[in-house]
Amino acid sequence: MADDALKPVIGIDLGTTFSAIAYWHERRQEPRHYQHSISGETLQSVIYCDPKNKEILFGKLAYRKGLVSPENVVIGVKRMMDDASQVISIGGQSFSPVDLSAKLLHELYQDVAKQHGDGRSFKSRGTIVTVPYYFKAHQCAHTRKAAEIADIELVGLIQEPIAASLAYAWQLVQASPDQEIKENILVFDLGGGTFDLTLFCLHQTPKKLVFEVLATGGDDRLGGMDFDECLYNLVLEKGGVSLSGLSAIDHNKARQKVMEQAVEAKITLSSASDTYITVTDVIPGKHIDIKVTRDDFEKSIQAYTKKIDAIVQKLWAVANLRPSDMHRVILVGGSSRIPCMKALVCDLIGEEKVYGNINPSLCVAEGAAMYAAYLDDREIFGREIEVKTRTCHALGLEKAGGKFFELIAANQPTPSERSQLFTNDVDDMTSLDINVYQGSAPDVKDNAKIGTIKIDLPPAKAESLDIMVIFKVDTEQNVTVTVEINGDRWGDSFGYA
Ligand SMILES: Nc1ncnc2c1ncn2[C@@H]1O[C@H](COP(=O)(O)OP(=O)(O)OP(=O)(O)O)[C@@H](O)[C@H]1O
Ligand SMILES: [Mg+2]
Repeated sequence: MADDALKPVIGIDLGTTFSAIAYWHERRQEPRHYQHSISGETLQSVIYCDPKNKEILFGKLAYRKGLVSPENVVIGVKRMMDDASQVISIGGQSFSPVDLSAKLLHELYQDVAKQHGDGRSFKSRGTIVTVPYYFKAHQCAHTRKAAEIADIELVGLIQEPIAASLAYAWQLVQASPDQEIKENILVFDLGGGTFDLTLFCLHQTPKKLVFEVLATGGDDRLGGMDFDECLYNLVLEKGGVSLSGLSAIDHNKARQKVMEQAVEAKITLSSASDTYITVTDVIPGKHIDIKVTRDDFEKSIQAYTKKIDAIVQKLWAVANLRPSDMHRVILVGGSSRIPCMKALVCDLIGEEKVYGNINPSLCVAEGAAMYAAYLDDREIFGREIEVKTRTCHALGLEKAGGKFFELIAANQPTPSERSQLFTNDVDDMTSLDINVYQGSAPDVKDNAKIGTIKIDLPPAKAESLDIMVIFKVDTEQNVTVTVEINGDRWGDSFGYA
């Protein structure tokens, strides 16, 4: 059964700053999270490589080591998954973002395995890894590759807001299993690296749970790391310390020392109205000893709060809904604990609609574990789960002069399909590359290339060939591109799920 301690089904939330791993407890019929043996319920997504013996450390230990030698540590690998060709050098070793993500996944999984028997008998019956809703096909492919390198039994990826709302939906099902319920739900996920908004219509019937994505929004460069930076600058300013003129190494060391205190203070200020920050010898002989209030901190991040407010307002417009049409808000992500962020949501939608019975740091991993359980046994929840998504990014191809030609727009219900007829530009072209992109910028160089379809052309005069290009996106966001010329076909798929 699914809660067999040595053969569980697993969900992993591979976060920008913190990661979590959970399993489905069959007997209790609920998702549970594992504790990391050193870091606790979540693992800081931090990797340290020792320059002397090449030993790799993770989480809390890696973070602490980074305070002494920041050049040997990497934080925020998920933000680098866009470009897998990057080389990250730590501790005299070079890694790609995919390698480092694989190391994090491996650590999460193996730490659990070691806590269960000899570590070798533990093998999940299926693992789901989560990705942000905005991840493009190539970022999903990189995540999949990382899972493969980490040697875990990946059965699929699930988007983070869908996982979080699954955890919520399960509570709803248990409270009223036979009732038909239709609710508009907003998942407000403010994590370490990203802000993700997803608006769902959740429809529960005794036979089915349907998640229909109505609209999405967000910013993939807005989260706790940015708030840390604001408080860090405030601490230096209030403490009267300038780090300019220091060597890169000394600057890094001083920065890490102050940053550690800033992050701790930020978390304290979510429950206390003020706190003290003391850092000795930021630079030799120069100490910081200041009081910071919640108000100081919240003022320092005001530009971000305004941005978040605007993103939420825009979402209503896209979905053609009003805040009063919302039935529930689920707060996800550690940064949603910041009081001014909570207040913003309460002001916009109403305090009574904010669902409190969910852990913002663990619900994504738990929802992923639930999905793994569902894929393992489709009867497990006594009802079918159906997810109706929308395209998160526009899809199209490269035209002459590096211009982007859009075939499928962003925010289209899936499945979605569009065909377009093109022709050959010049006489006797022997081959043609169809470059496929995701994004909305007018120039392809500003979008993400997800693949190329290479075509051999028959000899023909310019503009005499009918080149039919068909783009399809299925409900799991898999993109298929087919090209047809005179009955011949070429094609490729760029997978998500
Ligand atoms: N009580 C708190 N108050 C304020 N911030 C907090 C609190 N607890 C955690 N955080 C912040 O939340 C962030 C981590 O949140 P979370 O684990 O949801 O992010 P993540 O999953 O790593 O990021 P992402 O979802 O963007 O990939 C960190 O920046 C952390 O400092
Ligand atoms: Mg997250």
